Amino acid sequence: MHIKSALSLKGTGKFIMSKKLILGVLASGRGSNLQAIIDAISSGALQAEIGVVLSNKKDAYALTRAKKAGIPAIYFDPNNYPSREAYDTVLLETLRAHLVELVVLAGYMRLLTAKLVRPYLGRMLNIHPSLLPAFPGLHAQRQAIEYGVKLSGCTIHFVDEKMDHGPVIAQAAVPVKAGETTSSLADRILIEEHHLLPRVIQWFAEGRLSIEGRVVRHLTD
Ligand code: GAR
Repeated sequence: MHIKSALSLKGTGKFIMSKKLILGVLASGRGSNLQAIIDAISSGALQAEIGVVLSNKKDAYALTRAKKAGIPAIYFDPNNYPSREAYDTVLLETLRAHLVELVVLAGYMRLLTAKLVRPYLGRMLNIHPSLLPAFPGLHAQRQAIEYGVKLSGCTIHFVDEKMDHGPVIAQAAVPVKAGETTSSLADRILIEEHHLLPRVIQWFAEGRLSIEGRVVRHLTD
């Protein structure tokens, strides 16, 4: 993939707007990670644009955040589709219709099928609130506290056909303090998520990530 941000023509005051990476964001809930992406784009820290936000939840606040930012936001009701594959097929068609190059699962709480994962293999990221491979699945922060680990955090990984499993791109660690509650730990992990997610997307946009088996290498200039 060859993507560059705007280049200035020295001395002319003109800009060549080369193509920005087009994102599709899937979210099921409040969408604070989506907001972190929107804010990073606004501040110029992330050279990308969000083509569409999709949700499996009608009331997802992520949809409201997207609309406020002028981004197409679409809810697809899973009950209207006979199978998970049929549902994922309509998501895939919608992402393609919006020319999405990178899919970001930002709190998307529904299992994906190969129908959607395969066409976007190597071009789909997920953020998960634990240091994978520890505590995949639901309630990762609660699992961490109940297990008694002293360190947790968040992971961003490429998505493969198994849940919370694909090649790890980046992780941020958060200490688990004495007397920690699920919500206090979740809040502190979330702060790290909001920093890490836009940075990783920017690395992808700059073509800095290469996948070798399970290992993601960060290319430097
Ligand atoms: C985030 O903590 C994200 O890591 C988690 O859901 C939350 C969504 O928050 N994702 C998962 O648990 C996926 N397995 P947000 O809607 O405010 O971005």
